[in-house]
Amino acid sequence: MILKIARMGHPVLRQIAEEVEDPKSPETKKIIQDMTETLEDFGPVAGLAAPQLHISKRIIFYTFPKERADEHTPDGIPPTFLINPVIEILGEETDLGWEACLSLPDVMGEVPRYTHIRCTAFTKDGEKVSFEAKGFHARVLQHEYDHLDGILYPMRMTDMSRFGMMGEVLRYVRGQEAQEA
Ligand code: NI
Repeated sequence: MILKIARMGHPVLRQIAEEVEDPKSPETKKIIQDMTETLEDFGPVAGLAAPQLHISKRIIFYTFPKERADEHTPDGIPPTFLINPVIEILGEETDLGWEACLSLPDVMGEVPRYTHIRCTAFTKDGEKVSFEAKGFHARVLQHEYDHLDGILYPMRMTDMSRFGMMGEVLRYVRGQEAQEA
């Protein structure tokens, strides 16, 4: 079933999402199925958390192609669902990167994120996994994880002059910086 995407201001995006009791239950499988169908309908997207579909459960999805990847994940990341993820910060270092979100259409902002984390979670097959993530992979995970705790990326921003309409940011801010670099 294709579900509607909750947008910033909707209270579901501010809730602490519930733990999934059984990663292998039919209920969990149905949520993952609905997330998959909604994503297929939407087109290529880097990530989605269940609360963005008005489902206040601790389930996230993410993927990115090698074109968006950095040196830490040169092949990108295949479509991945994580259930009850827990993130541990593995170092104080942060970096700034541009983020966008389906729940805040047409805007983007520059967000500081930890560059090295460990994530422990269950896969959609109910297997427990634990892995380290760095760079863009760590950023995407922190963005999606934050949705489970009611946090949207502007709440992580430290310089609101780096928040703007997507078209204008891509044209004037990022374009300019690419030329200067
Ligand atoms: Ni988001």
